[in-house]
Amino acid sequence: MTVVIETRGLTKRYRGGQLAVDRLDLAVPAGSVFGFLGPNGSGKTTTIRMLMGLIEPTAGTASVLGRGMPRAAGAVLPQVGALIEGPALYGYLNGRDNLLRYDSADPTADPRTRRARVAGALERVGLTAAGGKKTKAYSLGMKQRLALAAALLQPRKLLVLDEPTNGLDPQGMREIRALVRELAHEGTTVFLSSHLLDEIEQVCTHAAVMARGRLLTQGTVAELAAGTRGRLAVTTPDPADAARVLKELGVTDVTVAGDRVSGELPVSDEGEPAEPADLNSALVRAGVRVRAFGVERASLEDAFVALTGEGFDVAG
Ligand SMILES: Nc1ncnc2c1ncn2[C@@H]1O[C@H](COP(=O)(O)OP(=O)(O)OP(=O)(O)O)[C@@H](O)[C@H]1O
Ligand SMILES: [Mg+2]
Repeated sequence: MTVVIETRGLTKRYRGGQLAVDRLDLAVPAGSVFGFLGPNGSGKTTTIRMLMGLIEPTAGTASVLGRGMPRAAGAVLPQVGALIEGPALYGYLNGRDNLLRYDSADPTADPRTRRARVAGALERVGLTAAGGKKTKAYSLGMKQRLALAAALLQPRKLLVLDEPTNGLDPQGMREIRALVRELAHEGTTVFLSSHLLDEIEQVCTHAAVMARGRLLTQGTVAELAAGTRGRLAVTTPDPADAARVLKELGVTDVTVAGDRVSGELPVSDEGEPAEPADLNSALVRAGVRVRAFGVERASLEDAFVALTGEGFDVAG
């Protein structure tokens, strides 16, 4: 497996003592759409700023596209498109002119094709119509789109996007997700941070979960969700009987709400979850009338809650 981002023991303690990132070991495979997930204040932006060579780590190492950061920033950054919190825009210039400025700051960008590049980038983020408007009159979502356009001026091996859908409306979020998939399809590795679990689930192949500066887990999204067992749900006109039978069969955390009985699938001594079909036939044999029977798929959100044990709270 080729990795495009790798950190070992990466640590950042800010002046003032805040330990923002604590011994982070991250491995982002080439070709992945890698979701960097964690609640507010968990260290995502701090990590990204270290990866982009904007701040120095207190300890540990980070390599991007095989080169150590921040030492190799000069060689690495031209190959990376980045969107970091609070993009710098010239408010008195319109969106198009802001991009022209960005493009002319890139020594590798051919001036003859500049206008076409800028038009293409505006098109990709849906800003063609608003390209002539001064950016001080842009909404948060429009600024975010423009920052993304700046990251897309050149084809890149790697895109690093810090909360790319921040400030976007639901339609805008869908558009950005589609764009990320398209970029991945073209072969760009995309590393994006988010505190939105379902967003990560919809667009990412891999994810890492952070909490309070520490990495809780990383892997493919399928692996992460599979680490959490699904919940059994039975709809029946005989909920009390169903609950009793399920408990006898080893189902735990059985709850009854109206005609719906749910619980955690039992696990054998070998760690294998019970076969749902066996539970269903046992219910029927016991005379329970089953209207609907299913195992709800575990989501990344379930996995996150299981990992942190507390959900999505901001640490102090
Ligand atoms: N410049 C700074 N000086 C001191 N502490 C900081 C600084 N920047 C961030 N922190 C602290 O470091 C921790 C991690 O912050 P960071 O911005 O990396 O979190 P985040 O995961 O990006 O959060 P969010 O989802 O809100 O963007 C927080 O406790 C924050 O208060
Ligand atoms: Mg952040």
